[in-house]
Amino acid sequence: MLGIAQSTFAVGIVVVLFALFVMLLAGSFLRARRSDRARAAVSEGSTPGAGRPAVAAAPAPAPSRKKVVVSRRDFFRGGLLASLMVFGAQFGGASIAFLWPNLKGGFGSLITLPDTADVIKNQISENRQPVYFGAGRFYLINYTGDGTKSIYQGITADGLMALYQKCAHLGCRVPFCQASQWFECPCHGSKYNYAGEYQLGPAPTGLMRFKVTVEGGQVKVDTSTIIPGPPRGTNTIHQAPEGPFCVGGAAGG
Ligand code: FES
Repeated sequence: MLGIAQSTFAVGIVVVLFALFVMLLAGSFLRARRSDRARAAVSEGSTPGAGRPAVAAAPAPAPSRKKVVVSRRDFFRGGLLASLMVFGAQFGGASIAFLWPNLKGGFGSLITLPDTADVIKNQISENRQPVYFGAGRFYLINYTGDGTKSIYQGITADGLMALYQKCAHLGCRVPFCQASQWFECPCHGSKYNYAGEYQLGPAPTGLMRFKVTVEGGQVKVDTSTIIPGPPRGTNTIHQAPEGPFCVGGAAGG
């Protein structure tokens, strides 16, 4: 599931449902046309004198206005089609509203940060904490470890690395603890160092992350693809906790 972005999954569902809707609609129209043709054929066949040689050409009666009678089946079919169309319009509108944040740069898309790489790095060092970007559900850290050319190759840029806020254990949002300078999960006590690498608790891996690119100082984070967290035992920054923990009682794991 990690390889498929949520927005792609949602678009797939919309497309499948829309195709089903069109198929139902087309099927209903075809059935209606077929039954109209059959009815016409039956009424032709039952015309008095049909199939017998004509005796004399009677003067054609003046055309009279035909009374249109809607059968109960046609009425129900029309009602069904109308309700399907209303449902389709509502569902389409709701889907567009749901996907709109992703289309315009929310979680699940390529996000361009409003600040430049230098401004972000200054904020990180001045505040002694990562920059949190809520719309994209990630933290940006200033990474200076030795994994840039190995385990984190291609996902950091200009010293910036993006960590997914979601705990690798059961998915709680993991806040950053300024005292310890580690990420500490309040749910079951998993702890990750500043680079989001597993240190303590039940989490199976380090924090997941996203690819960062920097072009002309502009920072972009691709949240459409979630990169799995580094395995337990990965430690590229060798950072001991720098103060007391914010979350006590880490469960051994
Ligand atoms: S969800 Fe974070 S430790 Fe369980």
